Amino acid sequence: MVYYHKLGKIPPKRHTAFRQKNGSIYQEQLMGNLGFNGIKSLLYSLRPPTALKSVERIKSLHWDIDPDPTLRLRHLRPHRLQNTGASAVIDRVPLVFNNDIAVSIAKPFVEDQFFYRNGEGDEVVFVTEGEGILESQFGELDFRRGDYLVIPRGIIHRYRLTGNQNIFLVIESRGYVRTPKRYRNEHGQLLENAPFCERDIRAPALLNTRDIEGEFEIVVKSRNALQRMILTHHPFDTVGWDGFYYPWAFNISDFEPITGRIHQPPTVHQTFESDGFVICSFVPRLFDYHPDAIPAPYNHSNVGSDELLYYCCDEFMSRKGIEFGSITLHPDGMPHGPHPGKAEESIGKKSTKEEAVMIDTFKPLYVAKAALGCEDDDYQTSWLE
Ligand SMILES: [Fe+2]
Repeated sequence: MVYYHKLGKIPPKRHTAFRQKNGSIYQEQLMGNLGFNGIKSLLYSLRPPTALKSVERIKSLHWDIDPDPTLRLRHLRPHRLQNTGASAVIDRVPLVFNNDIAVSIAKPFVEDQFFYRNGEGDEVVFVTEGEGILESQFGELDFRRGDYLVIPRGIIHRYRLTGNQNIFLVIESRGYVRTPKRYRNEHGQLLENAPFCERDIRAPALLNTRDIEGEFEIVVKSRNALQRMILTHHPFDTVGWDGFYYPWAFNISDFEPITGRIHQPPTVHQTFESDGFVICSFVPRLFDYHPDAIPAPYNHSNVGSDELLYYCCDEFMSRKGIEFGSITLHPDGMPHGPHPGKAEESIGKKSTKEEAVMIDTFKPLYVAKAALGCEDDDYQTSWLE
């Protein structure tokens, strides 16, 4: 997505005979979005990606909406959820969603034996806690705490976990996820005023080609269901690839904050865009330096968007009562702002260590019924003194 990359061996000319030692040709596969018109990569593998022994529908996926439609400011504490399941990909607990985006939490503690492909959405997986390797057809990508893992749809992958505790905030996107357009020039390169550059973006670095025949299970999410496909060889048998379509990582600590003399709007924190929403990063930074500046945000009515904040720390300059892992949801139609005393308290402060991921959606978000068990019901009235 972000720049041209290649790994392994590829033929000098695309769509030409590229032969293995035994004389047979490597299998060529194009993977990309928007049909043949979007970003793409060409992969070369030992065996055909089409060699499926069986296909079976496992189960339908249905996310229930909170039955109480009352409009209110909300506070969820998803890290408190128990029994969230072992898998990073099929045991996610739904939190909020609409037709453009679905946000869930996963706390995986075993490595899946199967492989996974999201066939209906790009994924941005924010690694709140944990480390390991994201394996895919494109090679191995190391990940660590604070990484956004961007996994474009269709890519077969699997998590190898090496951390003691893993917490992933998972964002699934109907549109394809990209860097903000206003930070790219006409050639796609990130501009000098962008808060990060290509050097901060990590692509798969190691191609570990598996030459193994057998039965390999791939769970595919598509059409609101999980399907099981059995491939007759290991899916990571790529010998080489090149292009712009691959999983990549960007660490929130590599986001260079844009600051000013007075309070900067949330747009300066934007990190990704998609269709119907944006993702922003709040990172440790110096506060505004006008002598009378109020670093805390002013009250605002975010008309036309719902605003979700996921706190990766236990203090946030404008909020009381939040904890590590809290999610606040401030829907369109209601103003919000700093808690009482927080604006005054922020005056004269030089810096903040806060870290948070913000998602602004342009259509209303629904809270999932599965998230109600971790809701702080007193949040709506927490501005009263
Ligand atoms: Fe806000």
